[in-house]
Amino acid sequence: MIPAETIQLILETARIEEVVGEFVSLKRRGANLLGNCPFHNEKTPSFTVSPAKGIYKCFGCGAAGNSSKFLMEHEHFSYPEALKYLARKYQIPIEEQEQTVEQQKATTERESLFLVSEFAKDFFVNTLWENPKGKAIGHSYLRERGLSDLLIKKFELGYSPDEWTAFTDYAQTNSYPLRSLEKTGLTIVKENNKLFDRFKGRVMFPIHNLSGRIVGFGGRILTSDKSAAKYLNSPESDIYNKSKVLYGIYFARQEILKQDNCFLVEGYTDVISLHQSGIENVVASSGTSLTSEQIKLIKRFTSNISILYDGDTAGIKASFRGIDMILEQGMNVKIVLFPQGEDPDSFARSHSATEVATFLASQADDFIRFKTRLLHEEAASDPIKKGELIKEIVQTISIIPDEIMRTLYVQECSVLLDIPEQALVNDLNKRLRKNNQETKLAFVPQQPSPSEQRPKQVKQENKTPLSYQEENLIRLLLLYGNKSFDYRFRENEDGPESIIEVNVAGFIVEQLEDDGLGFLNPLYDQIYQDYKRGVEEENIPSEQSFINHENAEIVQIAADVLSSPYSLSENWMAKERIHVVTEEELLLQAVNTSVLSFKQRKLEQEIHELQNELKEAPDQEKEKIIMLILKKQNIQKLISERLGRIILK
Ligand code: CTP
Ligand code: MN
Repeated sequence: MIPAETIQLILETARIEEVVGEFVSLKRRGANLLGNCPFHNEKTPSFTVSPAKGIYKCFGCGAAGNSSKFLMEHEHFSYPEALKYLARKYQIPIEEQEQTVEQQKATTERESLFLVSEFAKDFFVNTLWENPKGKAIGHSYLRERGLSDLLIKKFELGYSPDEWTAFTDYAQTNSYPLRSLEKTGLTIVKENNKLFDRFKGRVMFPIHNLSGRIVGFGGRILTSDKSAAKYLNSPESDIYNKSKVLYGIYFARQEILKQDNCFLVEGYTDVISLHQSGIENVVASSGTSLTSEQIKLIKRFTSNISILYDGDTAGIKASFRGIDMILEQGMNVKIVLFPQGEDPDSFARSHSATEVATFLASQADDFIRFKTRLLHEEAASDPIKKGELIKEIVQTISIIPDEIMRTLYVQECSVLLDIPEQALVNDLNKRLRKNNQETKLAFVPQQPSPSEQRPKQVKQENKTPLSYQEENLIRLLLLYGNKSFDYRFRENEDGPESIIEVNVAGFIVEQLEDDGLGFLNPLYDQIYQDYKRGVEEENIPSEQSFINHENAEIVQIAADVLSSPYSLSENWMAKERIHVVTEEELLLQAVNTSVLSFKQRKLEQEIHELQNELKEAPDQEKEKIIMLILKKQNIQKLISERLGRIILK
């Protein structure tokens, strides 16, 4: 936990042009800087950085935010990671909140485990390259498997001598504490306090975490001794949590981003052999079954996973769970099945790089095709089996959170298994209800659309008149919330005119609270609530407090609004055909019309709902509803008069 004041300090100290400038080449344009947007392909620069406001905004793709949001989007940092990066850059010390003595001890202890692991890796690497046996046994084994020296070095592969205590002795002479040696599992302490190396006569695969530090090892035996395990792995420790680590992620992250896809394989050698074939967006779950934490790790870089399976069908049915878990997280999954007896490693070794790439691209099936292909043979002739297969597929579809994706898969399943779409929809809705995923089940099959469509692209931008009015008010709050103007009013029709000074936020809040009106859009509502609190406490929030908000979506809205060219006179003079001179009068007009239009839209919606209610209502209720509608229509007319507009029938 970074203390809130430190977060503020970091965000206020960070210079947006310096942070962005490390990744994008920027040129000065007046008060702003301009460059090619790093978030989409463009030839003419539309990516703008405003040093004064501390924000960036792309007028091409809409990306917008502050320094921390830039790092989160560009470097795929988490929020704390982005803050720590900035703190390092600007030399701001972070005292993690309330670190107890135990926590501090834990931090140093973790650090010492990292150091021992790094030391061990160096020892194994040196043995592989320098030691005669390491060279003769370890290095030549890897070369025989077709790995280049470059790759052996890149993955920091090593060799552990075939002796009982070679590593432990060496580590102790170098003053590494036994406690850390034991905790990382590199040294095994027997009952009689005798020490042994865990890894002995094995080729060593160090396991890197996301930032490249060594957290553990896998060691492959080189003899054909059937009584010894082929692979021996480090035990879990304070730095090695098997369910959270993916082998190869450190070397794959850039390429996963670039390809917007991640290949998932089973083992160490699959990862390295695919690298040898030029495919670098690949990670391994290392023999354990896939966990949701591992999937989330991949999700930070892409929403597309392709699982590569060995050609023996034995393990495959057990892997269906992994597919469901990926779909459950709203990600897309493809499956590549290798020919009988082949795994990615053996296939990559016996085929050219181009053949491997072509194979992966051409063999990738979605899960429906995959399951159908696997089970179709036995199912084709047996209606009961076929029914089971269909139910299983529909069950998987029901896990997918996105409705449009579900619709597309239902269509595909209908075609592939030759069963009417409606039958599938009915079954699906039943399951959805059971899964309790949705309360509303209006599931209507839609027009066929290209089956390649990805959820990312299906952005639902349904702007209603009301959401437009909400946006308008938020815009005014963010741009002018602090500004004040003179407000003239009369207590009653022919009383004296009073003038009070109000600020925009105060005026809007009062107007909405009077009528008990709120925002439907939850983000807008959050912004509005901040202003409301500010008005009550007579401390209107500044634009910076939204630019540096902890909620990234609010940062986006603030950066969007504050970087868009927007002038009161253009927006209101022309539209409302009013002729005012001073900025203040313009502001008054703008705020007034926005509030009234907002109320107008709210009334419209309420009337619409009442009209619907009227249709269903029992006769004795009808009159009451009609009266209510008339009353609301009357208020509407009054507002319209004040807005100087004519209601069109
Ligand atoms: N594995 C393990 N322990 C074992 C066997 C396997 O941890 N006793 C893990 C390893 O991460 C291994 C993966 O499961 O890489 C896949 O196992 P396998 O296919 O048997 O190994 P390969 O990677 O194919 O190794 P090789 O090609 O050297 O036989
Ligand atoms: Mn293998």
